[in-house]
Amino acid sequence: MQVLFKNAMLYRDGVFLRGDVLASDGRLVFPVPGGVFPEAVVEDRSVAVFPGFADVHVHFREPGFSYKETIRTGSLAAARGGYTAVCPMPNLDPVPHDLDTLQQELSIIERDAVIRVIPYGAITRDEKGTVLADLEGMAPYVCGFSDDGHGVQDGAVMLRAMERAAAMGKPIAAHCEENDLLFGGYIHDGEYARVHGHRGICPESEWIPIARDAVLAGRSGCAYHVCHVSSAESVEIIRRAKARGVDITCETGPHYLVLNDGMLEEEGRFKMNPPIRAERDRLALLEGLKDGTVDMIATDHAPHSAEEKSRGLAGSAMGVVGLETAFPVLYTELVKPGIIELSRLVKLMSDNPRRRFGLAGEGDFCVWDLDAEYTVDPAEFLSMGRATPFEGRRVNGRCLLTVCAGREVFADASLKEGK
Ligand code: DOR
Repeated sequence: MQVLFKNAMLYRDGVFLRGDVLASDGRLVFPVPGGVFPEAVVEDRSVAVFPGFADVHVHFREPGFSYKETIRTGSLAAARGGYTAVCPMPNLDPVPHDLDTLQQELSIIERDAVIRVIPYGAITRDEKGTVLADLEGMAPYVCGFSDDGHGVQDGAVMLRAMERAAAMGKPIAAHCEENDLLFGGYIHDGEYARVHGHRGICPESEWIPIARDAVLAGRSGCAYHVCHVSSAESVEIIRRAKARGVDITCETGPHYLVLNDGMLEEEGRFKMNPPIRAERDRLALLEGLKDGTVDMIATDHAPHSAEEKSRGLAGSAMGVVGLETAFPVLYTELVKPGIIELSRLVKLMSDNPRRRFGLAGEGDFCVWDLDAEYTVDPAEFLSMGRATPFEGRRVNGRCLLTVCAGREVFADASLKEGK
């Protein structure tokens, strides 16, 4: 397909240039030479061209749980969200904890992925937290190591993992959760839980292990990354560790940046782990984004079946989908009101995750119509997961085209119809 985007914004090295941009069979041409006769011209829309987004925290559920999502559907959903590189977590069956088990996941990726899918290997065997996985065997094929879905409870196990990961120059991405402090909670331990009689998850269950790991990361020299940061205290601990020179980065998700527990409803689509927290936590995360403490945005795209998400806040599975709404939600809620600049959002969704996890992006880009306004409708998702707290929201920003390594992996119907 050859499409000419007239007077578009083009992101290059942290700044925006303006001019006509040609997408020609997966190649980006700028400036556009004379004598070009494209199949379609887009001229009356507010078009922005970004590098492909990268999400270092997704769940694609294969092997093991293909009724929730597959590598095919997950990567198609990612492409529709402007992503060209994603890192799926290893809470699978079998858990990728050595070359044999990892190979099962890699073969499906090789066969079905439409974008760059670079998995994590587990930190411990079966993510049980006791015996270390074959980190060295998996290292050449993974973006890093994680036991996501479970916190590594034993500090000595984590320290050993960090030392070995450091020796190979691979990051550890930690799901920080102290099991002893959960007390059967499933939403934030705050006002909403008290008023509605729910059991709460306290922020300490997250930040105590972050504080432990920040010390161990400093001691081991490991490239340490904190997954889905949700609480104000966590942000402050990470800020201080960075100031001490610890090699620590972190991510947060769109739902933690846009929602607070006052916005919860009695539906499974508002349930994930860690939970949506209080307004003070949300504001602290925004501060962290602005001052660089929060390095990147990851969706924690965690699809489950409709039935698994139909049992209200108490009974539903933990996890919401996010790949197809991340950019529109963040553009609408953070960039349009002037909370962060568009170039910052692109860094948080592309440059920073790629640099930290060494994800290639050559020949990748995505094209957005920033003014397109619509209501988030999960029925339109390419993901098999439909549970999102953003259902029914008005948002701006529609992905028109995603190109990965020079291949068109998503094109919006309006482009194909030449509208
Ligand atoms: O909400 C979540 N869903 N949090 C996790 O830690 C795991 C994830 C999943 O795998 O569904």
